[in-house]
Amino acid sequence: MQKIENTVWWITGASSGIGKGLAQFILRKKGKVVLSSRNAESLQKVVDELQIATEQYLILPLDLEKLDDCQIIVEQVLNKFSRIDYLINNGGISQRSLVSETNLAVDRKIMETNFFGTVVLTKAVLPIMITQGSGHIAAVSSVVGKFGFPLRSAYSASKHALHGFFESLRAENKANNIYVSLIIPGRINTAISNYAIIGDGKVYGKLDPGQANSMSSEKAAEIIVSGIMHHKKEILVGGKELLMVHIRRWFPSLFYYLSTKVSAT
Ligand SMILES: NC(=O)c1ccc[n+]([C@@H]2O[C@H](COP(=O)([O-])OP(=O)(O)OC[C@H]3O[C@@H](n4cnc5c(N)ncnc54)[C@H](OP(=O)(O)O)[C@@H]3O)[C@@H](O)[C@H]2O)c1
Repeated sequence: MQKIENTVWWITGASSGIGKGLAQFILRKKGKVVLSSRNAESLQKVVDELQIATEQYLILPLDLEKLDDCQIIVEQVLNKFSRIDYLINNGGISQRSLVSETNLAVDRKIMETNFFGTVVLTKAVLPIMITQGSGHIAAVSSVVGKFGFPLRSAYSASKHALHGFFESLRAENKANNIYVSLIIPGRINTAISNYAIIGDGKVYGKLDPGQANSMSSEKAAEIIVSGIMHHKKEILVGGKELLMVHIRRWFPSLFYYLSTKVSAT
């Protein structure tokens, strides 16, 4: 396994949950981290929980939903650290609403945030990695990036889109020495369902019972980083819910039956 010390990681969605877990894990291993999300104060709290020097991190707020051109923020990263070794596209929002009750504006918001924001950032970082002659780009998908699931239509679609994009990116950039990983969490104990949006765009505002009893974001971060350092193409992380990925692949009829029976919250 390669060393983390002194490598440069750019993590989106670093203010909470899995992204916070990843940022703190890397910082503890003496990696350098660019922490991004919308909320600069929350990002600062993530680093304040650790005793680290300002040379080791950069707080870089951005809104994935409104990211058209990020050349200026990429330059801020290069001014501070001169290179980008790892881009972890983790920021995103979830959904809790039926197709029949979801405004198109909500479908678009989820695609803009989870898919297009990630694409904009990846396209800005890719030339830097090509010039460096190395790099690793990861995208945090979901088990519902592998199959559709109730109350997650746009969310699931945004994660499926990531698979198409990042698998293509991988195939195109092998010769450039750029690795690509798709991270596929099942259920991780974060506030994701709290911030999920419903059909009219309002916040769902509840912690789903299934979420509360799941793997911690610290444990998830450890598994994800290990997978990245071993250049894994897909990193499944979570509990027994991951079985659904294998059931969908090998026993599709059973999957179709279960997907109407398993609790969606
Ligand atoms: N937890 C799970 O069970 C689970 C399962 C499958 C996949 N995932 C995926 O894991 C990733 C992390 O989720 P999480 O569970 O850690 O949830 P979380 O605690 O809600 O974290 C989401 C992160 O995304 C950021 N974010 C949201 N909208 C953003 C925007 N428009 N621009 C920039 N940043 C934005 C949030 O920060 P700000 O509010 O500060 O912007 C926050 O840091 C997501 O992609 C999610 O889809 C999670």
